[in-house]
Amino acid sequence: MKIQSICCLGAGYVGGPTMAMIAAKCPDIQVTVADLNEARIAAWNSDTLPVYEPGLDAIVASAVGKNLHFTTDIRSAIAAADLIFVSVGTPTKSYGIGAGRAADLRYIESAARLIAEVSEGHKIIVEKSTIPVKTATAIKSILAANSPHGATFQVLSNPEFLAEGTAVEDLECPDRILIGGETTPEGHAAVEALASVYAKWIPRDRILTTNLWSSELSKLVANAFLAQRISSINSISALCEATGADVDEVARAIGMDSRIGPKFLKASVGFGGSCFQKDILNLVYLCESFNLPHVSEYWRQVVHLNDWQKSRFVEKIVRTLYNTVNGKRIAILGFAFKKDTNDTRESPAIQVCRDLLHERAHLAIYDPRVSAENIREDLMIAGVPRELIESNVEVCSDAYAATENAHAIATLTEWDEFRALDLARIFELMLKPAFVFDGRGILSLDSLKAHGFDAFAIGKGF
Ligand code: NAD
Ligand code: UDX
Repeated sequence: MKIQSICCLGAGYVGGPTMAMIAAKCPDIQVTVADLNEARIAAWNSDTLPVYEPGLDAIVASAVGKNLHFTTDIRSAIAAADLIFVSVGTPTKSYGIGAGRAADLRYIESAARLIAEVSEGHKIIVEKSTIPVKTATAIKSILAANSPHGATFQVLSNPEFLAEGTAVEDLECPDRILIGGETTPEGHAAVEALASVYAKWIPRDRILTTNLWSSELSKLVANAFLAQRISSINSISALCEATGADVDEVARAIGMDSRIGPKFLKASVGFGGSCFQKDILNLVYLCESFNLPHVSEYWRQVVHLNDWQKSRFVEKIVRTLYNTVNGKRIAILGFAFKKDTNDTRESPAIQVCRDLLHERAHLAIYDPRVSAENIREDLMIAGVPRELIESNVEVCSDAYAATENAHAIATLTEWDEFRALDLARIFELMLKPAFVFDGRGILSLDSLKAHGFDAFAIGKGF
């Protein structure tokens, strides 16, 4: 089966960039990204894309209007497609059975029902969203029970491994593409049809095919292992602060062991992003459901440690500032969950700011890509009362405005521009003693000290 027309349900951080890359690499395939959210689709069709990713504008511009289309006409997009990616959100369930752990699959289910209702002929349905193992069974059963036009389907799993901030390079040159399918001749044919799309720009030896369940599970396990490395080094960061060891030196020393490797060993105020916590909790819930309490408890600790890391950072600030931050101006540098993205989902900055606001600090927040509106909304959703946000939160247009008259600075995102700050100027602007709490280990403690700051960094202490 040769794929000529692709549709993707969900124009978010995954659907938009992934389909833009497919369209750019496969000019002979029509790619339509469909979403219920009109504002999001309008933004994809404008000069200001809803997702900030280095290099993305050029990829979208190269294909949009030619073979890449963004639409809210979901039905027509489904009807025209040979292959449909489902890239809708799968957030942690906040109600009922499994609340706080299980994945909320309502968007997946409604997408499957709509596909069944609209489709004719034969279509390949691809799970791009991250979902619990065995979701393909649910999708298949919904499709089979609800197809008025007698359509037939093959369901594949093709999890996405891109990281935000590096999405374009990750999509252009991925470590691997994973495709899971049924072990039947029809399943193999569907896997091959999707593989041949990716093979337009990705070497065949990096396109891995497995059965459905291995593919679905591998995505959760990959994120769990990555997050586990961060919680592991963050646990050691506390020990480094207590002993005088330097966490970056420890990370370098252990990372040179080729069995351990150097990546994902940067201690931080905690991991954020829409995936790690959600996917580990999803894994925890799966293990509970399969009656594996030891396994679920093991992975739950990765999230516990991450929560503790964020709260101990706040505690460090409060204790150092003579046990009170009430009325004190604290400059927050960075609000996104990592650099090079405008995404703030599960950003550690949200919890840190919330807890500092509960201590009645005045926050002067600066992030180069996150809007004031977004910051205020995140804090509100995190439970900070509107009046407290209005009275105690100022969103600044640069780092210097934020640090003026501040008692302390907390760096919460590793934006490159923070590495190049004029420390002498900032020291002049701040109240004394001028405290710095580097939650990302991006500022040189020696240089801060030389400029007169009292500086603390995660995993290095004062
Ligand atoms: P997102 O919230 O940015 O986008 C999801 C979009 O789906 C929304 O715009 C929503 O309006 C739309 N949607 C919901 N129901 C729909 C329907 N029936 N038809 C059409 N559109 C519908 O989410 P995201 O960050 O793109 O993540 C999507 C999936 O990919 C999740 O399962 C996530 O775990 C996974 N994932 C995300 C990342 C990442 O870096 N963000 C990486 C890998 C995997
Ligand atoms: C992650 C996975 O990396 C990606 O493969 C998957 O598809 C989606 O989830 P993402 O969340 O976008 O990607 O970014 P990532 O680079 O993994 O960073 C996640 C969080 O961990 C960020 O808050 C980051 O700052 C933090 N982090 C990362 C550390 O604190 N230390 C590190 O060494 C690496």
